Parts: sequence; C-alpha cells; structure tokens
Amino acid sequence: MTTPQLLTTVAVTRAFVRAARAAGKTVALVPTMGALHDGHLSLVARGRELADVVVVSIFVNPLQFGAGEDFDTYPRTLDADLAALGAAAETADAVFAPTAAEMYPAGAAQTTVHAGPVANVLEGAVRPGHFDGVLTVVAKLFNIVQPDVAVFGRKDAQQAFLITQMVADLDLPVTIDQAPIVREADGLALSSRNRYLAEDERVLALVLSSALRAAAEASAAGPAAARAAGLARFDQAPDVRLDYLVIVDPATFEPLEDDGVGDGLALVAARVGATRLIDNLALTFATAG
Ligand code: PAF
Repeated sequence: MTTPQLLTTVAVTRAFVRAARAAGKTVALVPTMGALHDGHLSLVARGRELADVVVVSIFVNPLQFGAGEDFDTYPRTLDADLAALGAAAETADAVFAPTAAEMYPAGAAQTTVHAGPVANVLEGAVRPGHFDGVLTVVAKLFNIVQPDVAVFGRKDAQQAFLITQMVADLDLPVTIDQAPIVREADGLALSSRNRYLAEDERVLALVLSSALRAAAEASAAGPAAARAAGLARFDQAPDVRLDYLVIVDPATFEPLEDDGVGDGLALVAARVGATRLIDNLALTFATAG
C-alpha cells in the first residue's frame, strides 16, 4: 500500500511537479471534489496509463454551488479518500487538497471564466453559474499543476464538453481525456451523491439507467422513438421527479432532430427524494425514424 503524498499549498504542489518534470516525467491531473468511489479510482488508473506521475486534486469548490445547494453538507472525507487511494491497485503519487483560503485568498475569485452558451442549458439551466464556477477552478488547477493530461469522467458529460471547449478556446496546453462511466452491477452510475440515497431511494434511482437502456433499445427507430422509450420508464416511476431526458449531438450539445442520424448522447437528470442525479449514454442513430 502506497499512500500518496499530501500537498496542501500551491507552492508545495508546484515544487512537486517541478521535481517530476526535472526528472523527465509527464504529469496527469485527476480533478475531484473527494468522497472518492470506484469511478474516481478508474480515473486515477486512466491517469496512470497516460502519464508517469498522477496528481489527484480534492477540493469542494464553493464557486460551483448555488444558494440552497449542498455545499455545506457535501461529503468531506479526506482521510478515507487517502486510504482508498492507498489501497487502490493503481494509485496517485500526490493529492493536492487545498483549503478554500489557499485557493481563494481574497475570499472569492475576482476574475472568473465565463462559459459559453452551452453552460446555460440542461445542468446550467437548473444550476445557474455552476459551470462558470467549475471552469474557474479547473483553470486554476491547470495553472497550479500544469499537467500534460487531465482526466474527467463522462458521467458529467456537459462539464467535460465545456472543459474541452475552454481548453480549445483559451489555448490551454493540456490534453483532456474523458473516461467511461463506472456503474454498479444493477446499472446505477457511481456518484458521490449516491451516499445521500436511502435504501428505497437507491431502488428508485435505477430508473435513470433503465430509461437510458430503453432509449438505446429503441434507437434503431430514431431519436424521437428513443426519447419516448426513455420517458415511458419515468411514467412508471411517479416518485422520481424528472428534470430532463434529451438526446443531443455530442459535438455541439444541440438537441438532435427527431429523425437525426449519426452520434447522439442521451442525457437524463432527475430528483430522487432530495438527491439530484444525472446519467448519460452514447447512442448511434443509423436510420431515420
Ligand atoms: O466533477 C467534479 O468533481 C468537479 O466539478 C471538478 C471538475 C473537480 C471541479 O470542481
């Protein structure tokens, strides 16, 4: 068991990365908010494949939480996170876990990244300002760690899209890698927020992945049929509050035409009790409906 080195300041983290680079090593960054689960560990393993040195950041970023969201109650489990990384087959070399004062010494960033129009739809429509907060902290993490590659999970597909767009728009010298969603055996996508679910809610939450599978099964008949099949699963789950189930073009995040062909991405968000969950599945539409 190798426990990663804990770094808590920007200066020490920069020195760590400088030493790695001086030894000719490449660096991968895996940004997280902690409460690590097997999905995060798969991102670390992916980072290991892509670079010599892996840095995981753990920071619950206040900038990306709106009023009334779960910033105060978001699980902060640094000791357990370090232990999980230490016990993992593929672990990180270092964990950058700064305080809010280290990241935002002036109290809040005065200069922020403003995400483009895709930040205003879907998750952004429900969580105004969320993606500006995400992009601002991710840009800061990129500047602190200066990784060759950064690994993000595909479960947060809109976030991964916007980060990729920011890197292209701002010419940031980092490659973005998107790693597949990790699921429980029954289909539930792993999420730090799953720990909020009571036992009966955990069962109800399966409607998200089951709706995506239904959409995939109906996809031969086109996007409209796929969406209808997914929505029908929610009709059978009245205790789950659907926010959206849409099929977008993954290259633009624009909704696919009802009879569109080519690549699609089915995205779903719903509330189970007080917990808001998201999931997605890539689809291919070979024939028009
Ligand atoms: O996906 C997350 O955990 C967060 O949004 C991220 C990318 C670490 C930024 O705080």
